[in-house]
Amino acid sequence: MSGQGLQQDSVAGAALMDRIYGWQRPIYDLTRKYYLLGRDRLLSELAPPDGGTVLELGCGTARNLILAARRHPHARFFGIDLSSEMLAEARKAIAKAGLERRISVAQGDATRFDTLGLFGVATFDRVFLSYAVSMIPDWPRAIEAGAGALAGDGSRLSLVDFGRMEAYPGVFRAPLRAWLAAFHVSPRDGIETTLETTAEPLGGTVDCRSLFGGYAVYATLARVPARPKTASRSRSTTKDMRS
Ligand SMILES: C[S@@+](CC[C@H](N)C(=O)[O-])C[C@H]1O[C@@H](n2cnc3c(N)ncnc32)[C@H](O)[C@@H]1O
Repeated sequence: MSGQGLQQDSVAGAALMDRIYGWQRPIYDLTRKYYLLGRDRLLSELAPPDGGTVLELGCGTARNLILAARRHPHARFFGIDLSSEMLAEARKAIAKAGLERRISVAQGDATRFDTLGLFGVATFDRVFLSYAVSMIPDWPRAIEAGAGALAGDGSRLSLVDFGRMEAYPGVFRAPLRAWLAAFHVSPRDGIETTLETTAEPLGGTVDCRSLFGGYAVYATLARVPARPKTASRSRSTTKDMRS
């Protein structure tokens, strides 16, 4: 059942996600492997500290959390998702992987969550969003909430999602966008600017890269020691990375 423990404003979104994912959840991981590109790169660069904590917002089937937990055996992993259907799949997968003691998932809205109430953990060394920004209507608020859950200096928020696809011809872009829209997925403009605005009061730095000719965007907001006070950015959007 969807919506228990969610704030009223999140219940309709949870019901929509359950409608989208209810029938898809058994085939989700198999099919997304081919077009949610860049996720493995984000996971390979996560590098949480030993004993550290990692939170995924919009964790879906826990595919990412399971891979990351195997790769980083000394960290603890947490995920929230709006969809109880996806969480049911996630719990099954976590149990099958024997990782129940290291990965916890709970229903929550990425734009307004209380991880202290859900998991007993208030802040995280790493927070990430993988193909969730394109599904969350108020995605800037999710980025802000994720950055607000960072532990302090040295902690990072990263995200990967559909990019602007600038190197692809219109005949490829338009049908892809239409197909994504049918699943309530909208590639977002302004991710880099939103990250910079979010980073500024934290004295953070932003690195934003385009992957696969703009098919995907991969960005990181890093909290660094207090000096300098204003956000600085390391811009690499013109550089295309092949992994
Ligand atoms: C495209 S899936 C990505 C799942 C996973 N991160 C991955 O990389 O395979 C997007 C996920 O975001 C979840 N979601 C959408 N809106 C959300 C919100 N406001 N808060 C939390 N999760 C949300 C959906 O239920 C879905 O599981």
